[in-house]
Amino acid sequence: MDSKQVIFITGSSTGFGRLFAETLARHGHTVFATMRDPQGKNAKHAADLLALARRESFSIFTLECDVTSDASVENAVRAAVAQSGRIDVAVNNAGYGLMGLAEAVTTQQAQQIMDTNFMGCVRVNRAVLPHMRRHRKGLLMHISSGAGRVVIPAFSLYTASKFAMEALAETYRYELATQGIESVVVEPGAYQTPVFGNLVAAADQSRSDTYGITNNIPSKMTALLSAAAGNPQEVADAVLRIIETPVGQKKLRYRVSEADLGVDEINAASERVQSRLLEMFGLTAETTFVHRDAAGAD
Ligand SMILES: NC(=O)c1ccc[n+]([C@@H]2O[C@H](COP(=O)([O-])OP(=O)(O)OC[C@H]3O[C@@H](n4cnc5c(N)ncnc54)[C@H](OP(=O)(O)O)[C@@H]3O)[C@@H](O)[C@H]2O)c1
Repeated sequence: MDSKQVIFITGSSTGFGRLFAETLARHGHTVFATMRDPQGKNAKHAADLLALARRESFSIFTLECDVTSDASVENAVRAAVAQSGRIDVAVNNAGYGLMGLAEAVTTQQAQQIMDTNFMGCVRVNRAVLPHMRRHRKGLLMHISSGAGRVVIPAFSLYTASKFAMEALAETYRYELATQGIESVVVEPGAYQTPVFGNLVAAADQSRSDTYGITNNIPSKMTALLSAAAGNPQEVADAVLRIIETPVGQKKLRYRVSEADLGVDEINAASERVQSRLLEMFGLTAETTFVHRDAAGAD
């Protein structure tokens, strides 16, 4: 087990990010819990986390980081490296949901969710990778969703943003293996965090006028998902286990949920197809982590 890792988490003000920070620090890791506006709208969240760190002697530091800004991400990564000398793990967690029929989502809303949920990962990964390559070790973790593998009507642009995140994470997995750097995806089901209260509604409702009963899908799906939501500590425990899994033994994808809505099946089929494709290009177990997945730890 790799112990005492330096972990950079985005979106640590509430929900999973907040819980990851506490859970990882409780196990001796150093955590940079980054968030938007820790001196302003998230001042209470930042102060609570720092008070917990003082009480429990946890190694938690807060930093400002808005994943939609190159400069903000680069400054946060620079500050974490200046303080700790390295970042071992980047947890791409910041994100939000958007609910409504696809046609009712405006182009501006579509751009905004891609900018946070997908481009945020692009920015964070690009900012941390030079430091990880210098140490020839590191882990890029991507908090996707079951909706990163199966399509849920009414969550169209959210689903698209998580599918995009998964493709990026998988590409990095193959390209970075020879650098000693791993990339993994976590696919949570529905969990009780503020995410449902923070759902943004598709703004152009005039577009849904003719959809009839299809119009009821968004509210039905949201009610079903929030009613089924589990204890988010399960996801934090899974994240801890993955981070502490030795290098070379991590799987590419981890579904974390009570119900498997077919995600495991898609992941298994995708792994077989990708293995064949990589072999066609002459990429082997030595150059990618792909063939080790079957024997990988849970
Ligand atoms: N809970 C679930 O059922 C579930 C299931 C699957 C996947 N997920 C994923 O888990 C991740 C965390 O969500 P959550 O459930 O913990 O909900 P949450 O409590 O609403 O947390 C979302 C976090 O993302 C942050 N964020 C949003 N935009 C940001 C930006 N531009 N820059 C930096 N941070 C930003 C929020 O910060 P502010 O406080 O500043 O808004 C907040 O800290 C998301 O990516 C979500 O898609 C959640």
